[in-house]
Formats: sequence, structure tokens, C-alpha cells
Amino acid sequence: MTVYLNGRFLPLEDAKISVLDRGFIYGDGVYELIPVYHRQPYRLPQHLARLQRSLDGIRLTNPHTASEWESIVRELVARTPFDEQAVYFQVTRGVAKRDHSFPLGVAATVFMMSNPLPLPTAEQVERGVAVVTATDERWLHCDLKTISLLGNVLARQLATDAGAAEAVLFRNGFLTEASASNVFIVREGVIVAPPKDNQILPGITYDAVFELARGGGLAVEIRPISREEALAADEMWLSSSTKEVLAVTTVDGKAFAAGVPGPVFRKMYELFQASKPRSDK
Ligand SMILES: Cc1ncc(COP(=O)(O)O)c(C=O)c1O
Repeated sequence: MTVYLNGRFLPLEDAKISVLDRGFIYGDGVYELIPVYHRQPYRLPQHLARLQRSLDGIRLTNPHTASEWESIVRELVARTPFDEQAVYFQVTRGVAKRDHSFPLGVAATVFMMSNPLPLPTAEQVERGVAVVTATDERWLHCDLKTISLLGNVLARQLATDAGAAEAVLFRNGFLTEASASNVFIVREGVIVAPPKDNQILPGITYDAVFELARGGGLAVEIRPISREEALAADEMWLSSSTKEVLAVTTVDGKAFAAGVPGPVFRKMYELFQASKPRSDK
């Protein structure tokens, strides 16, 4: 496996960084994950714009222009032997003597790797997945895609311990998102999701869902969703770059709503599939 580290493509085994890297010491960095279909990055400009937003949010200068990022991504995709890939990359505040304050004159660490895209199985799409509910205990900048993911990791483990795919999170009685996905509900035919404020990651798939729904004539609404409303909804979905859109059919061990993916989900799933690059041309 070839990875990219600080300007060089090299075998994974040879990609080494210092233990003083601030990503390791403080979780001081940001990341992105871009799905690649038929060797075409999906919504690359939107991912690079979100990367810029995350970097601005942690006051770290972007080490590359958008066109430099694009050429690194494309070269890594070309060097990786799968048609469908998940390009992961992170930028940290670099290597420096341990001190909380930002170091001066230190180059950022840039790492990129590409793995096979772990899409949901046909069975997960057909039957939906299980989630558990949990309290959102993360910090108040969930809108930044930072590598400090302990809150998300602990939430996901609650789901894993229960044999579920995701943990759906609530803060002060309102739906935020899941440990690594955005959450939508459907109520009386209307697709509803919480606003993109500081409490959720502005998902690229979230935006795609709204764009595709509007284009497909589906009704949408963006507003806060209480826990009661979420749990009484007609449908619940997850969205992310690796889950695409996925229906939730079990919540906290009990069948949710009809217990099968709903009609609005099926329509959205079709719209989403049709929006993906279908060839490498
Ligand atoms: C916490 C969180 N929310 C939402 C998402 C979905 O974002 P995207 O659709 O850009 O993959 C992710 C993706 O990993 C995530 O980690």
C-alpha cells in the first residue's frame, strides 16, 4: 500500500512521523475523508472547502492550494488498486517540543492514504441497521472535522458493544448527529434534519441529500428535532461518505417505526445512487 507523507509517496511501512507530532500529543489537527467511485473523487471541491473551514477553525494555515490537494489526491487514487476508494487525509500542527501554545515556524504534517471504500452491504441497505441512543458528550465545535475524536470513539463503542451500527446522539434533549454520520428523520413525508450549527459536522453527504431531495421533488425541512420527535418519526436515516444513505430500523434493541426501510428512504437511495460517478470517464 502506497501512502503520502509530507511531499512523498512511499510504502505504508516506511511512513514514519515523530512521537512529538502534535497530532499524536494533542490531537491537534484536522482530517477529511473523500469517497471515490470508479476512480472519481465524489464532490472533491466541497471536501476541500470543508478542509479549509476546519483549518481556519483551528487557526492552522492550509499547507496546499486546492489544485495541489487535487493533484495529490488524484495521484494517490491512481497508485491505489481499487476502483472504489476512501481517501483519508489529515493535517496536523507538526512536530514541536510539547507545549500547548502553537509552535512558531513549524511545518504542518500532511498524511494521506486510500483504502477500499467500505460501503454498506446489500443486506444493510435492504433491511436497514440498528442504532443505540446516547447522550452527546462531545465538545462544542463538532462542526470542525478534527482528529480529536475521543467523544465519537466512545459513542461508537457503545453501539459496537450493543451489536449496533451507530450511536445516535442527543444534547439537551435534541438530536445532533451520530458518532460518524448525520441523521435525518421523515415525518409525514417531509425529510427533516437539524441545522448545520456548531453541534454537528456539516456532512458533504448531508448537503447531497438535501440537494438531491429538492431536485427530486421531495419535501425538506431544516430545524431542531427533539428526542421525542426523533423516536416517534416515520423513518430515520444515517448519511456519510461511507454509509451513503442508510435506513435505521432498530433503535435501542426495538424495531423502529415500520421495522423496514421506508418509502422516502427508497426514493432517496435511488436518487443518491444515480448521482454517483458511474464510469471513470
Ligand atoms: C461526526 C460525523 N458526522 C457526520 C459525518 C458525515 O460527513 P460526510 O457526509 O461528509 O462523510 C461524519 C463523517 O465521517 C462524521 O464523522
